[in-house]
Amino acid sequence: MNASSPSPAQNQASTTSLYGGVNNRRVTVRDLAAAKQRGEKWSMLTAYDALTAGVFDEAGIPVLLVGDSAGNCHLGYETTVPVTMDQMVMLSAAVVRGTKRAMIVADLPFGSYQESPAQAMHNAARLMKEAGVGAVKLEGGERSARSIELLVEAGVPVMAHIGLTPQSVHALGGYPVQGRGDEGAHQLLRDAKAVQQSGAFAVVLEAVPAELAAQVTEQLAIPTVGIGGGPGTDAQVLVWTDMAGMTAGRVPKFVKQYADLRTVLGDAARAYAEDVRTGAFPAAEHSFR
Ligand code: KIV
Repeated sequence: MNASSPSPAQNQASTTSLYGGVNNRRVTVRDLAAAKQRGEKWSMLTAYDALTAGVFDEAGIPVLLVGDSAGNCHLGYETTVPVTMDQMVMLSAAVVRGTKRAMIVADLPFGSYQESPAQAMHNAARLMKEAGVGAVKLEGGERSARSIELLVEAGVPVMAHIGLTPQSVHALGGYPVQGRGDEGAHQLLRDAKAVQQSGAFAVVLEAVPAELAAQVTEQLAIPTVGIGGGPGTDAQVLVWTDMAGMTAGRVPKFVKQYADLRTVLGDAARAYAEDVRTGAFPAAEHSFR
């Protein structure tokens, strides 16, 4: 086998569970297609740094998304709109470095692909070459079909994102549920079919009625990844800071919090500050002789 030919492990789609079935190489688009065939549901989490991504990788999360939600969940912006390509490249490279097994998908941020398919290709190539991600995600159904087609033809795996598309927050006037009513449902179905037809390997369905998300899932051959799409999608994604209870204030209705990290971390910081104030830290065991 020469240096450029794939190893036997790379050549095989996992036929067992995505959890533990693929542990000697990264998860690929073929593994995700095989999971849909088996009817196996899988999870995706966002990640924005090497440390947290490593924890999720070790926990067996098969796909990590370097979402442009980094804007409001990691970088202190109000929305995803200000996030730049340079920021996405830096965060994505950190997530790739911190992981061994998960497929890493990176968002193309607002303004980095809407001008033309050529612009989308230029910036997807940056994420793959400079950060080392395995796939990119972009928002839009029919409106992004030509860009998806060009990227896929060029060898870039594309995850599409339809329904509520947060980069359009200002045009939408907030984050309203999408796909309601006959016309909304028909548009969502058209968008889903358009991205599949263009070659996307999976599609995120955000904030759409559960029944409609299940219907789209049945009609598509590619996996659907729900966030606020109910239980009928092939996979689920959550923003990690929401999932782990790090987010301040209210979280969306579709979030389930699996920990209360904000309280745990705040309590630890307060206890440390108090120990320093009282002289309890550092103690003899923390000091050199
Ligand atoms: O940026 C992000 O985190 C996302 C998820 C909400 C799917 O796009």
